[in-house]
Amino acid sequence: MAKLKVLGISGSLRNASFNRRLLEAAAGIASEAGSDVTVLPPKALSIPVYDADIEASGLPPAVAELAAQAAEAEVFLIASPEYNYSVPAPLKNWIDWLSRVKPNPFPGKYAAIMGVSGGPMGTIRMQPHLRQILESQNLLLVSQPQLYVPNGETAFLPDGSLADPSLQKFLKMLVEKTLETAGKLKA
Ligand code: FNR
Repeated sequence: MAKLKVLGISGSLRNASFNRRLLEAAAGIASEAGSDVTVLPPKALSIPVYDADIEASGLPPAVAELAAQAAEAEVFLIASPEYNYSVPAPLKNWIDWLSRVKPNPFPGKYAAIMGVSGGPMGTIRMQPHLRQILESQNLLLVSQPQLYVPNGETAFLPDGSLADPSLQKFLKMLVEKTLETAGKLKA
């Protein structure tokens, strides 16, 4: 598989986040596949809310750094909770800021999206919204598999993998298929 630069982003800022655990599991699979993986730290998306007046006076340094990291990346791994049936504000805010950067760091690149919920729904209502938002950036996603992880408290084994073997299989398929497709596009 082609060696790709992969950037991991979590929609949760929480230190003990289930989605961070899922992101680390996805990042591990990408590393094993030969990719060069960077995972943003838990508070990386704790940046100002997008404001055109702030933008007009120059990108805040934290936003400029996020933009540089996104520009370098060839593939994005995005793990996010569902907040009130949709995409958490920090993740949407990251996309809004970076969509304003020139050149836009998103078009034509691949992303794999996934999510864990505390309860039984596994982010099933958030992910269609996220797909639509990413479409606005011409970010590409594989159609299948899709990964919805319920019951975060019991979802992980001590080694960080998913306790449900079928979900672990889907995670591996999702990451590998995204990398393989992105690699073909690069070639
Ligand atoms: C939630 N949670 C939640 N869960 C869900 O399945 N559907 C939802 O609509 C919501 N809404 C929601 C809103 C807000 C503001 C919070 C803080 C939480 C619960 C959520 O799944 C749970 O807190 C997860 O643990 C959050 O993910 P992390 O932080 O563990 O990655």
